[in-house]
This record gives sequence, C-alpha cells and structure tokens, in this order.
Amino acid sequence: MERAVLRKLTSLCIISGLVCLILLGITAIRDGKREWKDYQQEYRRLLLGKISRDINPVLYERVSGMKPEIKQIVVNEFGAVDRCPTCHLGIEDTLFTTAKQPHTTHPDPELLAKHPVEKFGCTICHGGQGAATTYDGASHQTIAHWPDPMVEKRFMQSRCGYCHKDYEAIGADDLALGQKLFEDLYCAGCHKVDAGDGSMAPELSAFADKDTGHFDFTHIDGDRSRQNWALEHFLSPSRVTPGSVMRSYAMNGHQVEALTTYVLSLTERVFVRSYYPKEDLVVAKKDIIIQEREKDFSP
Ligand code: HEC
Ligand code: HEC
Ligand code: HEC
Ligand code: HEC
Repeated sequence: MERAVLRKLTSLCIISGLVCLILLGITAIRDGKREWKDYQQEYRRLLLGKISRDINPVLYERVSGMKPEIKQIVVNEFGAVDRCPTCHLGIEDTLFTTAKQPHTTHPDPELLAKHPVEKFGCTICHGGQGAATTYDGASHQTIAHWPDPMVEKRFMQSRCGYCHKDYEAIGADDLALGQKLFEDLYCAGCHKVDAGDGSMAPELSAFADKDTGHFDFTHIDGDRSRQNWALEHFLSPSRVTPGSVMRSYAMNGHQVEALTTYVLSLTERVFVRSYYPKEDLVVAKKDIIIQEREKDFSP
C-alpha cells in the first residue's frame, strides 16, 4: 500500500521535473529569439563591415566578440530607465548616417551633443516606454489609451517646451508659432495657463500631463492618443466634445499642428535645476507660479 503511494509520488516528481525542464527550454529558445538580439547581431555585422581588420585588428577583435546585452541609460532625475539604445546602437556613431533604422545615427547630432545622452536619455524628448525591449513595447506606434506613446515627428518640439522658454532662441519655430496663435486667437479668454485669468474652460497648464484615460475618444477617428485627440479637437471641438462652446478656428494644417505642439508642451513637471537652461529665467516653473500667486496677494 505505502509502496504504491511512494511510487505514485516518485512518478509525479519525475513528471513535474520534466515539465519544468521543457518550460525552461522553451523560455531559453524564446529568449534567444528576442528581437533586440537580432538587431544587435545585425549592428555588429554592419560595424564589422565598416572597420578594417588590417588597420585596427584590436577593435575588430573586440567587435567580433561583442555579446548581446541590454544597453540602458538610467536618469535618476526623471526616474527613467531608457533602453532605447539596446536597438538604436548607432545613434551616436557617425559611421551609421546612411544605415537603416534602428541603426541610423541621430538626425540631429548637434542637438544630441547639447543634451548628452547619459544625462538626458531619450524619452524626455521622444516619449515612449523607456524600459521596453521590444518595438511594440517601446510604443513606436500608438496603442489605444497608452499613457505615453512616442511623440509624433510633427509634434517633437512640444518636448523642448518642457525646459526651454525662449522658443525662438532654440529654433523651435512650431512652438513659437503655436504660442503666437494661442495669443492671437485669445484662447486665454477662456483657458487658464499658469497664472492666466480665463475660467470658462479647463485649465491647460498641465494639459501634457493629463491622463489619456480622461479623454473621451468616442468621436475620435484616428489614434487614441493625447496628441491626436488635441489635433482632432482643434479641427472641430463640437464634433469631439458635443455641445462644446469652443468653436473651430480657421487655421491651415501647419497652424493646427503648431497649436497642438504648443498645448502638448504645457506641463507641470518640474526638473532639478541642472535640467533647465541657464539663460532661461524660468528655473523651476512651480517656483515662478508660487511667486506670481504671492504677488497677487501682496498689497
Ligand atoms: C526592439 C528594438 C527597439 C527598441 C527597444 C527601440 N526601438 Fe526605435 N526603432 C526600432 C526599429 C526597428 C525602428 C525602425 C522601424 C521602421 O522603420 O519601420 C525604430 C524607429 C524609431 C524611430 C523612427 C520613427 C519610427 O517610428 O519609425 C524613433 C524616433 C525611435 N525608433 C525612437 C525610439 C525610442 C525613443 C526608443 C526608446 C523608448 C526606441 N526607439 C526603442 C527598434 C527599436
Ligand atoms: C533633446 C531632445 C532629444 C533627445 C535627448 C533625443 N532625441 Fe531623437 N530626435 C529629436 C528630434 C527633435 C528629432 C527630429 C529631428 C528631425 O526633425 O529630423 C529626433 C529624431 C530622432 C530619430 C529619427 C526619427 C525619424 O523619424 O527619422 C530617431 C531614431 C531618434 N531621434 C532616436 C533617439 C534616441 C534613441 C535617443 C536617445 C539615445 C534620442 N533620439 C534622444 C530630439 C531628441
Ligand atoms: C529636460 C530639459 C530639456 C529638454 C526637454 C530640451 N532641452 Fe535643450 N537644453 C537643456 C539644457 C539644460 C541645455 C544646456 C543649456 C545651458 O547649459 O545653459 C540645453 C541646451 C539647448 C541648446 C543650446 C543652447 C545654447 O545656448 O547653447 C539648444 C539649441 C537646445 N537645447 C534645443 C532644444 C530643442 C530643440 C529641444 C527639443 C527637441 C530641447 N532643447 C529639449 C534642457 C532641455
Ligand atoms: C469660448 C471659450 C473658449 C475659447 C475661446 C477656447 N476654448 Fe478651448 N475649450 C473650451 C471649453 C468649454 C472646453 C471643454 C469642452 C471641450 O472639450 O471642447 C475646451 C477644451 C479645450 C481643450 C481640451 C482641454 C482638456 O483638458 O480636455 C484644449 C486643449 C483647448 N480647449 C484649447 C484651446 C485653444 C488652443 C484655444 C484657442 C485657439 C481655445 N481652446 C479657445 C472653451 C474655449
């Protein structure tokens, strides 16, 4: 009797052990197939094609021996871990200007030099999910309601406005145009931005921080993202928000994009001082807002 139980237990142990082994094997195979490893292999092959074994044998050997590894930038100030360079390995390497993505050199190396990758990472300008190691996970394309999909190219300057206030000085012309439209079209008549005086409509000071879950996408045709909601809402506020008192303005496509870029730059995120340009008066926006409010109460 006892022996029978023992035998049963033994076979149970063997079976579960085998199942574990099989699962481990599957994981190992899947691990080996991770897309980032393929990109790294491709990168190594491309790099080996660019360096000469005869001229620089040491480098050649080193590159040949490259093992796949996750490349990440930890930016404690933003609480960000950006693994984008795991696939975008050539981003700072001028040998890769004509390579295909994800290996291409950054299109604006000067901009990158002014914002060193090890200090700024990538997502502070691009958005996306920094910790991801897959193309989809990094959110290159919008996934419906995803909190922080990558910033579309046409709205890239919105991020410059997180830190820079002198848009013209940095050549952020879309942002400058968006701000000018905001003034010319008297948007502040209804909307508060920082210490503005409108009150008929939602405050926009933290529009860029607004959770995607709080937008109504019922009447949105395109991507279910904050950026697209803002764009489509400008084209027709009363279509996106039935009954809205906000009207649509006569703007051309570029102007609508510029205005969208501008509202997407409105954040209340505050960085440590060293992340604000020195020449900008605005050191930390919150301080300024507090100072403004104190002024309001002083005689
Ligand atoms: C798993 C590998 C992988 C990771 C991780 C990754 N990318 Fe990419 N990325 C790619 C590939 C592949 C392309 C080219 C896609 C194409 O051309 O169809 C690309 C293209 C891009 C582009 C060009 C625009 C586009 O969508 O085609 C940008 C910008 C970009 N990546 C930024 C980032 C940022 C920022 C991160 C980190 C948040 C990141 N990538 C992480 C693989 C990756
Ligand atoms: C200071 C802000 C900033 C930082 C930091 C930054 N980028 Fe960019 N990036 C830009 C801007 C602006 C563009 C668009 C340039 C243009 O118009 O061609 C761009 C373009 C790109 C493109 C090409 C997009 C396309 O559609 O062809 C890729 C890929 C890219 N960046 C990847 C990265 C990665 C990876 C990092 C981090 C290692 C990074 N960037 C860091 C601002 C930044
Ligand atoms: C996280 C904050 C941050 C973001 C986002 C950011 N910058 Fe900067 N930028 C800085 C800091 C800090 C400096 C250094 C300036 C200094 O040392 O005074 C700088 C410097 C620059 C400079 C050089 C200015 C000079 O006087 O040398 C340019 C141009 C510039 N940024 C353009 C941009 C553009 C364009 C974008 C958007 C694509 C952008 N920046 C996004 C913080 C930021
Ligand atoms: C007559 C008052 C009025 C004017 C002027 C006005 N808006 Fe609005 N706006 C509203 C109201 C009310 C809403 C909320 C209903 C809706 O979603 O349309 C709104 C919503 C918005 C939203 C979405 C805010 C959120 O958190 O959901 C943005 C962004 C916006 N307006 C920007 C602008 C800009 C930019 C202008 C100038 C071109 C402007 N508005 C002019 C009344 C106004």
